[in-house]
Amino acid sequence: MSEWVTEKMAGHCGARLSGVSLLTATHSDLEQMRSALFEHGVIVMPDQNLTPADHIKLAEFFGNIDVNRFFTPVSNYPVIAEVRTSADQSAVIGGTWHTDHSYDEAPAMCSILSARQLPPYGGDTHFASMATAYRAMSPGLQKILSNLRAWHSDGSFLDSNVGLQKNPDAFRDPVLHPVIIKHPVTGSPCVYVNGDFTTHFENWSIEESAALLEYIYRFTTQPIFTVRVVWEPGMVAIWDNRLVQHYATADYSGHPRLMHRITVEGVPL
Ligand code: SIN
Repeated sequence: MSEWVTEKMAGHCGARLSGVSLLTATHSDLEQMRSALFEHGVIVMPDQNLTPADHIKLAEFFGNIDVNRFFTPVSNYPVIAEVRTSADQSAVIGGTWHTDHSYDEAPAMCSILSARQLPPYGGDTHFASMATAYRAMSPGLQKILSNLRAWHSDGSFLDSNVGLQKNPDAFRDPVLHPVIIKHPVTGSPCVYVNGDFTTHFENWSIEESAALLEYIYRFTTQPIFTVRVVWEPGMVAIWDNRLVQHYATADYSGHPRLMHRITVEGVPL
């Protein structure tokens, strides 16, 4: 019987799990995979080659699927979002540091990305540990941030130029989340503001918030807190949106890239 071989990919987040096929994984294999996700923030599993139906089954192990309101769905699989870059596009979906679905009242717990078509080079995805970033802050800054909440909005999708849908019915009112959340499973404190969706601190103006938010984004995405995932054909990556932020690298202009993404429902933070 095969078992997961787990290799850490960087000092503060990321692990590569190999040796088990998700198609034949036992419940215990899947539970180990979930524990690895909470331990490492992001896990990658090479050579899985999931069909859309396999991808949905994997997502349902974690919980109910949280269908994205803005992404184009995969044909015949409305719960899977297409993350597509065409060869003539230079901007990419997710090409800035962000947290999936932070604009929702109960933001997505994890995202599961399955490689379908990769460029000949580039298109790597970076992840940064928000738990490590919190621990690295001074006690003074930790204390200030722990007493703040911030507004998150899906409004940035209005200006996006990466082929997302702009259905007016998809937009919702902004929501408030603590700036430092307690991870719902591990209890670890994590920084929870991001450049794509956080607009300002509660009871602060946008202008007043901007300088401190900018500092937090710069601090939390320092290379030492990150791991770089270099995609391989058939690879699947799962990340916990409460533990890490991510960034898709737009460095393969002239080449198409297609990924399938499913997000799984989370809880209010
Ligand atoms: C995303 O932001 O979910 C997409 C990441 C990627 O395409 O690498």
